[in-house]
Amino acid sequence: MPSGKDKLAEFNSKLDAQVKSDLQKKIADAKKRSLPSFEDYSFFKLVADVEAIAKKLKLNPEAFKITQPPAKLKGTEGVDLAFNVGSVAREAGKDPEEVAKELADEITNLDVVSTVDVIPLKGGAFVNIKLNHTSYSVGVLDEIKKLSDDFGSFNEGDGKVVILDYSAPNIAKDMTAGHLRSTIIGYSLYKIYEAGGYVSFGINHLGDTGTTFGKVIYQYNKEMSERGDEFKNELEADPSGTLMRIYRKFGEESIKDPKAMDEARELSLKLEQGDDELIDLWFKIREWSMECFYKVYDKIHVPFDGMMGESFYEDKMEGEVQEGLKKNVFKKNEEGAVVFPGQPLSDPSTGKENPNVMKTRVNKNDKAEDMVWKDEIIVKPSGGTLYLTRDIATIKYRSTDLGAERLLYIIGKEQKPHMMMLYNIADQLGICKLGKAQHIAFGHLNMEGKKMKTREGKVILLNDILDETVEAAEELIKKRKADTGEKSDLTAEEKLIANKVGIGTVIYNDLRQDREKDIEFNPDAAKSLDSGGCPYIQYTYCRLGSILKKAENYSDKFEVPDDISQVEKKILVVLSAFPNTVSEAMKSNSPHKIANMLDSLTQLVNTFYQSQDVNKAPEPLKSFRVALVKACQQVIRNASDLLHFEMPERM
Ligand code: ARG
Repeated sequence: MPSGKDKLAEFNSKLDAQVKSDLQKKIADAKKRSLPSFEDYSFFKLVADVEAIAKKLKLNPEAFKITQPPAKLKGTEGVDLAFNVGSVAREAGKDPEEVAKELADEITNLDVVSTVDVIPLKGGAFVNIKLNHTSYSVGVLDEIKKLSDDFGSFNEGDGKVVILDYSAPNIAKDMTAGHLRSTIIGYSLYKIYEAGGYVSFGINHLGDTGTTFGKVIYQYNKEMSERGDEFKNELEADPSGTLMRIYRKFGEESIKDPKAMDEARELSLKLEQGDDELIDLWFKIREWSMECFYKVYDKIHVPFDGMMGESFYEDKMEGEVQEGLKKNVFKKNEEGAVVFPGQPLSDPSTGKENPNVMKTRVNKNDKAEDMVWKDEIIVKPSGGTLYLTRDIATIKYRSTDLGAERLLYIIGKEQKPHMMMLYNIADQLGICKLGKAQHIAFGHLNMEGKKMKTREGKVILLNDILDETVEAAEELIKKRKADTGEKSDLTAEEKLIANKVGIGTVIYNDLRQDREKDIEFNPDAAKSLDSGGCPYIQYTYCRLGSILKKAENYSDKFEVPDDISQVEKKILVVLSAFPNTVSEAMKSNSPHKIANMLDSLTQLVNTFYQSQDVNKAPEPLKSFRVALVKACQQVIRNASDLLHFEMPERM
């Protein structure tokens, strides 16, 4: 019988080999993939042409951005694209109106441009572009058709590896709303980076070490001896639920019996030392918890490439600690602890120094200037390690052993000080240059009305929230059926549809909002079509599908008439700019930019099919509109795929 420590080591070395070979396979697969490049897109071609004109005129093209005109701006009727020359002019020391005119004179000559107007305004001037839709839009519709599922992707990442750390719940505890947000945002970024030509690799940094285990094992032993078979049966029937229950139970017991905590701590220590029996139990508990987490992951369809919890790094910390002492990054203090001395840290997100992260108040009411430096403990005098110690070993593994080009940590904003310390330490140790790792922070998730915390004194599990939202979606479908006089019982197919609507609502509600903000969630959002949001997008998608089903006698070869409606022009510009939207979302790690595009696209599409007939339109309008509808469907599908929610074919 191998000892507990050997068993763990064997488990981890297998995991290590598995992850490395999976990653190599993904890298090899990515090499075979041929993604479009920026030059394949009409939108980027136009941008490049305008930039070339700017350069020729000795202006800095980076000082402006071509976008759809801001809705509130006056004089933008019929304008497809616009940009403000305020800062370019300032940089060049020229008059904005003059600069705008110089640019406009040349831009007018581009094939895809119809007219260009200059609108002076305070401190700047707008260059307003009206496109020649006959040439621009034919290209766009062609691109979408040709690239289909790859429309919006580009080979910028060149197969480099991005490791994303998302979800990371703690074993034997409930998965919190924070872990759900991390999972949802993390997996969307995973897909966005993949679309951007990177190899995404998702790791679940499970919290599977520490005192939680001592507590759970203490309670486990207690109930085993007090309730015996009854407890065994409970465990068998619902292992993960029982685990959560006994962890909470320990909380109550330890208040009554202070000795419980000491015993739990001792158990944790024994576990860390590799006690054979405890390690076996640890393996089981880990399995049971994962079963519970997978209930959530399966519902929201989120996979991971590596399930490597904190325990994976148990034997990888010592080396980094010694390195740190040798390089004087760490010091030993009088009590015998290894510490990272208090110092100003640089904030990788701004590149600026943040002087206060490692400072603390001696007395609660001390003013900012009275704060003193605080050392951060890396190894306790007892030899015990911490969350940060494991993260140091983790960043080393990802950055050097797995050879990642970039590391993204999708973690709540409350961990900002921790992340900043980690990145500064890793930089000083020479294992991960500052800026290579990034904290993708997000705010809290609150449930409208019923706060996440309690209902009838019980914790609302995430699972319940997902189920409730699906139930709300079922009601939506029942209501729609009743409205048309159908029997309201749902068929199996309609239940699947409700599932897509419900789960999509949870995911989309998160991703449509700026991730750094605290967000509200209302499970009833799945009940209505008119609130915008996920059901509205899915409904719009289905409407497009039924238009296409009825379409006949149209041709795939057509011209875009130059008198198409304003809303059609707007749709075409949004569609054409989709690759740019993806690029912007990737640059700022903000899936909400894609969600916002989806919101405005579906609104435009609704206006379109309510005001323009597709199948009864005369040629060449009809063939053009059929192509437009197909293109809208494709882009809605591609965008929702990046936000990992599904489109039903019927609603
Ligand atoms: N388990 C941690 C928590 O629940 C999150 C871990 C995030 N990842 C990391 N590498 N620190 O707070």
